[in-house]
Amino acid sequence: MDFSDKTIIVTGAGGGIGEGYAKVAAERGMQVVVAELNAEGGERVVSEIQAAGGRAHFVRTDVGDEASAKACVAEALKAFGGVDYLINNAAIFGDMRVDGYLTVDMDYLEHFMRVNAHGCLLMTRAVVDAMAQRGGGAIVNQSSTAAWMSSGPYGVAKLTMNGITQSLAHELGPKNIRINAIAPGPTDTGALQKVAGEYAQQMLHTMPIKRLGQPADLAEAVLFLLSDEASWITGHVLNVDGGQLMRP
Ligand SMILES: NC(=O)c1ccc[n+]([C@@H]2O[C@H](COP(=O)([O-])OP(=O)(O)OC[C@H]3O[C@@H](n4cnc5c(N)ncnc54)[C@H](O)[C@@H]3O)[C@@H](O)[C@H]2O)c1
Repeated sequence: MDFSDKTIIVTGAGGGIGEGYAKVAAERGMQVVVAELNAEGGERVVSEIQAAGGRAHFVRTDVGDEASAKACVAEALKAFGGVDYLINNAAIFGDMRVDGYLTVDMDYLEHFMRVNAHGCLLMTRAVVDAMAQRGGGAIVNQSSTAAWMSSGPYGVAKLTMNGITQSLAHELGPKNIRINAIAPGPTDTGALQKVAGEYAQQMLHTMPIKRLGQPADLAEAVLFLLSDEASWITGHVLNVDGGQLMRP
């Protein structure tokens, strides 16, 4: 898979899985835009990529804000001259309020869905023209196995993301832009520990591969979906989950 001199935007890349994606992309020769709400994390990741000899640029971005998404792409164009790939990884996750539909505060729910379900849409809309100018591009949305579980608003946001991936595949195909999603199972990040705690280990009992995923387990799948080797794959949601979604 050849990614040399391609430019990628990775949202939510100031820590966790997104940090893993940004670093692997830089190692494979890509110019990486770290689009992240948390400036401290985003700047740290960019410094570490640069210290390792890679090319990266931090843009403070709120994916739930249309103007911020557009400004992110404008800054990516200024820094690197174009955009080829986008990974929509950002989400409210580690600090999310865990609640049910009967009790969740409606203002919180609307903000949560704006970021977790529609952030990928706002970023995609912002980047389409830039990708089309390059002759095409590829996008991967970070869904979750939670889309298929009774996981309240978090799962519903991911299920929405799956639907958006399929709908956008139809709209983007004629522009030579592919869009797919990956659905990771429980992956070893600080955010998962915060949300799931002990439950993260309990989930492993029902899984064929009895370990948490690592960001590196996901990165290769994402790279494949972005690559020219996947040029006839679009609208697909790929489970990368240690077999979690299989029925026992
Ligand atoms: N860790 C898991 O087990 C797991 C499993 C399946 C899917 N996921 C998904 O993977 C992604 C990363 O998860 P993680 O475990 O690394 O969590 P994380 O909390 O470390 O990563 C999320 C990142 O998004 C950023 N972010 C939050 N709101 C934002 C906004 N409005 N604009 C821009 N950035 C914003 C956060 O600052 C954070 O850096 C999320 O989409 C999560 O839902 C995680």
